[in-house]
Amino acid sequence: MDFKSLIAHGIPSTLPAAVDTSTPLSMTGRSENTHAPKRKDILSKEEKILAIRNALRYFPKEWHAELAPEFSAELKDYGRIYMYRFMPTYKMHARSISEYPAKCEQAAGIMLMIQNNLDSAVAQHPDELITYGGNGAVFQNWAQYLLTMKYLSEMTDEQTLHLYSGHPMGLFPSGKEAPRVVVTNGMMIPNYSKPDDWEKYNAMGVTQYGQMTAGSFMYIGPQGIVHGTTITVMNAFRMKLEEGDTPAGKIFLTAGLGGMSGAQPKAGNIAGCITICAEVNAAAAHKRHDQGWVDELVDNTDDLVTRIKKAKAGKEVVSIAYVGNVIDVWERFADEDIFIHVGSDQTSLHNPFAGGYYPAGLGFEESNEMMANEPDKFKEEVYTSLRRHAAAVDRNTAKGTYFFDYGNAFLLESSRAGADIMAENGIDFKYPSYVQDILGPMCFDYGFGPFRWVCASGDPADLKKTDEITARVLRAIQITAPKEIQQQMADNIKWIEEAGDNQMVVGSQARILYADSEGRIKIAEAFNKAVAAGELNGSIILGRDHHDVSGTDSPYRETSNIYDGSKFTADMAIHNVIGDSFRGATWVSIHNGGGVGWGEVMNGGFGMLLDGTDEADARLKNMLHYDVNNGIARRSWARNENAQFAIKREMERNDKLKVTLANSVDDGLLDNLF
Ligand SMILES: NC(=O)c1ccc[n+]([C@@H]2O[C@H](COP(=O)([O-])OP(=O)(O)OC[C@H]3O[C@@H](n4cnc5c(N)ncnc54)[C@H](O)[C@@H]3O)[C@@H](O)[C@H]2O)c1
Repeated sequence: MDFKSLIAHGIPSTLPAAVDTSTPLSMTGRSENTHAPKRKDILSKEEKILAIRNALRYFPKEWHAELAPEFSAELKDYGRIYMYRFMPTYKMHARSISEYPAKCEQAAGIMLMIQNNLDSAVAQHPDELITYGGNGAVFQNWAQYLLTMKYLSEMTDEQTLHLYSGHPMGLFPSGKEAPRVVVTNGMMIPNYSKPDDWEKYNAMGVTQYGQMTAGSFMYIGPQGIVHGTTITVMNAFRMKLEEGDTPAGKIFLTAGLGGMSGAQPKAGNIAGCITICAEVNAAAAHKRHDQGWVDELVDNTDDLVTRIKKAKAGKEVVSIAYVGNVIDVWERFADEDIFIHVGSDQTSLHNPFAGGYYPAGLGFEESNEMMANEPDKFKEEVYTSLRRHAAAVDRNTAKGTYFFDYGNAFLLESSRAGADIMAENGIDFKYPSYVQDILGPMCFDYGFGPFRWVCASGDPADLKKTDEITARVLRAIQITAPKEIQQQMADNIKWIEEAGDNQMVVGSQARILYADSEGRIKIAEAFNKAVAAGELNGSIILGRDHHDVSGTDSPYRETSNIYDGSKFTADMAIHNVIGDSFRGATWVSIHNGGGVGWGEVMNGGFGMLLDGTDEADARLKNMLHYDVNNGIARRSWARNENAQFAIKREMERNDKLKVTLANSVDDGLLDNLF
């Protein structure tokens, strides 16, 4: 069968040959793929039986006798049932949109994005359908993938596919203006949203962790994160350096060369500093080095110290991967008095006990064994290590290092570990998050966030053309932009002008750009016109990271700079996904968990196909406006000054927008009340 027939067929009508599930490497023949860690053995005997029963419901009865022991072996060996036997044999990657079998172009666009999120060049553990973050799943198992692709191949533009944590519940009649797909991931009754609930219900096959862009098919590889990381690192140095000084020869120390964290060295190079990025997994470090995302590899602290002294003396711009535990570097640099200007951490502490964080003093493989076989002991090791980690950071910040939490739950988990990490008031942490100090006030409050697009033709020439269109649009906006956002405009124009040269495309022809509401709408409008005029070879798919102005309620990250007490509510994210869905999104998604952890965040996103039609023009204006201004309105109501400025400006521009504004209260009036 050719590719189109295989997609349209869904679950094959004859049982594919058995595979050796004892070793996924030999089974898939893709030895270069890394595999998800073995998950915790958490189900009782009855629950395991339920998990097998749940898995078998995707298949005809006559296959059950053969599949039941196989799925039970997968559950035992890997802690999950991935249904490896049903993994497609065709190459997984985003094809040009015209290559998908589909009755409507919107559905074909979604298929393209799904395949991009499972491409082994893009995804972290593609065989286990994990795109990034160790647990960010597109689907729970291969049956869900096969069925979803089949539904998409047959849907018309008067149907909507509803996905429950990867499970395609089915096609339901809707209308042309409705989203083609509605995605929910990890939606739990709030009391069942503890980390072990994810382990349990995911193992049973009834929920999944969609991270942010994995379960909504909007991940575009590390490029997506390079831009945001560059903005963060650049502004962290701007905050700390005297005017006129540059980051050259100054140190940015951090950890993680995984899915998103792998963007840090590249961002450091663009920002112009010395980046030291520690990574315990030698394979991950070598992969990033081979891909050109980090300049050099060093595997012991003696060599690192020698190399860094040279780099400092030469005011070099260089990125170095330290293959080892980041704590070694924090401690050694404190001992050696090597001054770290900016420090952070991007280990996956949103997932601390299942492979996200490797404790000091244990080997990489030793940790992997312990987390699967002695989870309680491993948890203790993680907590001991976090206390040591935080103490080592403190020794450096006492000398003036600017340390910020990179939204990976470092401070949250350190506090749970009993590290000395709280501020004097006992409520806040003693270090800020990158959103509190940088992205919140400078970007989100003004509406700047990680807008992105994918060229559905797959043609690099289209990407180049969209970069040029974008630069033109931004330069025109910059002329009349108020002084409050001139720096952001300048940074974004520089980014888009250099984006092609930075060669960050992995997988689909995609681009990320931090833009505000005006920018996003005008860029999208220009793209739609270019599609209509035939200047581009195919449609454009718009989207964004969930890590944005309005899409995410996350008290220790996206909404950490909300100070009216509402940061523990999730109304904004829910309004956003509902609001986007009836304003023209092609697909919408809402997730529990993502970045900071299961139960710690609600986040949503959208995808929108621009096919050059007048309808697409109307949709993009309506939806993108709400998608940004919902969050600005909420941030303004929380008394964030920059958001108050932005929403008032927007109301002057659009007389249909009427937002409730907050009155300020004199502090003196409140001081003596209690
Ligand atoms: N890049 C961003 O802009 C951004 C924004 C918000 C949050 N985050 C968060 O950053 C974290 C990392 O994301 P990711 O996609 O790269 O995850 P990932 O799991 O792919 O990568 C994390 C890496 O850290 C390494 N690591 C773990 N413990 C270590 C230790 N003690 N020393 C050295 N290396 C260690 C792991 O081996 C792994 O390769 C996540 O929690 C994510 O939510 C990133």
